[in-house]
Amino acid sequence: MTTDKFPITLTSPVILAPMSGITDLPFRQAVARFGAGMVVSEMISSGEMVTARPSRRAASRARAEIGDGVPTSVQIAGREAGSMAEAARIAEGQGAPVIDINMGCPAKKVVGGLSGSALMRDLDLALTLIDAVINAVRVPVTLKMRLGWDFDCLNAPLLAQRAEAAGIAMFTVHGRTRSQFYTGQADWHAIRSVVDAVSVPVIANGDIRDAKTARRALAQSNAAGVMIGRGAQGRPWALAEIAAELYGLTPPEIPHGAALADQVCDHYESILSFYGKDLGVRIARKHLGWYVDAAGGSVALRSRLMREKDPATVLAILPDALTRQKEAA
Ligand SMILES: Cc1cc2nc3c(=O)[nH]c(=O)nc-3n(C[C@H](O)[C@H](O)[C@H](O)COP(=O)(O)O)c2cc1C
Repeated sequence: MTTDKFPITLTSPVILAPMSGITDLPFRQAVARFGAGMVVSEMISSGEMVTARPSRRAASRARAEIGDGVPTSVQIAGREAGSMAEAARIAEGQGAPVIDINMGCPAKKVVGGLSGSALMRDLDLALTLIDAVINAVRVPVTLKMRLGWDFDCLNAPLLAQRAEAAGIAMFTVHGRTRSQFYTGQADWHAIRSVVDAVSVPVIANGDIRDAKTARRALAQSNAAGVMIGRGAQGRPWALAEIAAELYGLTPPEIPHGAALADQVCDHYESILSFYGKDLGVRIARKHLGWYVDAAGGSVALRSRLMREKDPATVLAILPDALTRQKEAA
């Protein structure tokens, strides 16, 4: 995967997907501790990073904070070349070794502002933004996109060719169109049209949860690697498991019982220290729910965890909440 344009050695081409509200520093660190080739920050609005009032600017810059262990790519979104360039410079200044541009987000709020996947309907504007970001920083710039806007506009290969000529170092393609949002099944065959169109690495994304689906996605797309999003929720070891099976790396120790409770408590405490108690308690809930679901834990204790406001009580309940119901019965 290391190329002239992407001169960073990844331990494996298994990458954590950017997920707004989820891939914050505490979660990226949890994933990195088990092992991943690279992790990607939540999408950060370039406008917020550059021109918003100070408190929002600070919050968006915190979303771009870099952890240690594995390389972190900071993903920026926007539709204005000046603020995209400035946001990229800020992220690079905060230590980001890679900048990713979001051209895949389907959310109405983002598309309505003509950024995210809406840029796949205006390739000239997309290219203006790509040029601006590439010219602003020295680190590699990558691009994440969908197959196109809808089935009548499957222009990912065309965007990729133009973006590669502009200097994009690597692509990730989510095998759905914008119009599909998250419905249906990701089309890994269709990602091959982008792989065939460019010579830089292409990463396949969408519905890859484990080694079996990763192998299938790689075979169908001929991509250079995989990106995992929802499959890592409540399972921060999922990427390391996939990398071990596909690339022969040392398998992670998947925590169970007391070790799982320790892992979740550590993640919980890092969320509280990153966001502060009040916000942290609320942000942590979705992660706790995913951990309990993935562990097949107690439904009653899960719902108590979702309501509980006192961190000490959450930490006290967690070990029982993570206990498999079959075993508990
Ligand atoms: C809650 C959520 C938030 C997301 N936020 C982003 C984002 O900030 N930037 C982005 O490029 N994609 C975002 N995505 C899309 C994911 O990166 C990924 O492309 C998609 O979930 C498909 O991969 P998966 O099936 O492995 O989850 C988000 C997806 C989810 C479910």
